[in-house]
Amino acid sequence: MKRIFSGAQPTGNIHIGNYLGALRNWVELQHEYESLFCIVNLHAITLPQDPKLLAQKTRDLARIYLAAGVDPKVSLIFIQSDVPAHAELAWILNCVTRISELERMTQFKEKAGKQRESVGAGILNYPVLMAADILLYQTDLVPVGQDQKQHLELTRDLALRFNRDYGETFRLPEPFIPKVGAKIMSLGDATKKMSKSDENVSGSITLLDDADTVRRKFKRAVTDSGTEISFDETRPAITNLLTIYQILTGRQPAEVEANFAGKGYAALKAELADVTIEFLRPLQERIRGYGDAELDRLLDEGRERAQELASVTLDDVKARLGIVGARARGGV
Ligand code: AQP
Repeated sequence: MKRIFSGAQPTGNIHIGNYLGALRNWVELQHEYESLFCIVNLHAITLPQDPKLLAQKTRDLARIYLAAGVDPKVSLIFIQSDVPAHAELAWILNCVTRISELERMTQFKEKAGKQRESVGAGILNYPVLMAADILLYQTDLVPVGQDQKQHLELTRDLALRFNRDYGETFRLPEPFIPKVGAKIMSLGDATKKMSKSDENVSGSITLLDDADTVRRKFKRAVTDSGTEISFDETRPAITNLLTIYQILTGRQPAEVEANFAGKGYAALKAELADVTIEFLRPLQERIRGYGDAELDRLLDEGRERAQELASVTLDDVKARLGIVGARARGGV
């Protein structure tokens, strides 16, 4: 069976963009692939985090994966820091990565911004850790949003380089980027993606937002000039709202446009809020339904199996590099 690997950071509040761009596809693909879904807390600490909150959000994210439909009978859920092989392989891959490759990454440029000289090195090295996450499990397919496409390309480049220099070691992963919903935009600025770290909290609908908050955020959402409600690349704000509506209702674009023909922006926002609230209500009930003992059991199982799988690749990598420690033979 082919394998998928993906993950999300337990930072901020997971939003509808994360769900529509990634989680939704994990749930659909999990029955066709052997599936590993990771809570990438080592990625989270590339920016300062409140330790107590990070620990709590890590467990909450496991609950969110489950509530979104990740089925622990067929998929593994585990915490990145529970499997030290991620950090170990990341170090090794750092040694085959060029600094210039990392400096070219769009996400690095955006996150480092003007503080390029003073941000932590983790921001720069983030894509190397992501490559390690993926390559460690000989992953075939990585379901992610559009923003991760460039990191996936780097992952493939690193795998190719390592395979060329040390012999066939890593499988080359393919990205799975959905045709619709791969880049949900901020409700406050339709030129920016919806993001957990956005200072404007009204820009994203989080999976834990209550009904009033959802209504208020959609009401405040920016729109484009004009009055027509149609999918149109030149009108990104309305297209973004329609895209969310399209996915949550499972309707075709033409049906969505027909539904809003002759109606105004206020009606679009009100209907979209209704649909979103209806989608979130059962999800939120399920999130609250997972107790600590059940969660511990699943995360322990996930850790053990992930460690087993990861050690196969890591042992091979170390042998190829000649870093098998005291067991290495030879020398004077
Ligand atoms: N706006 C988005 N639309 C569609 N997909 C998205 N993803 C993120 N934002 C959108 C996808 O969600 C998955 C998990 O994301 P992540 O936790 O790894 O963090 P990120 O990609 O850096 O997303 P955020 O929300 O913007 O987080 P912060 O602000 O913490 O950096 C990924 O598959 C991602 O592509």
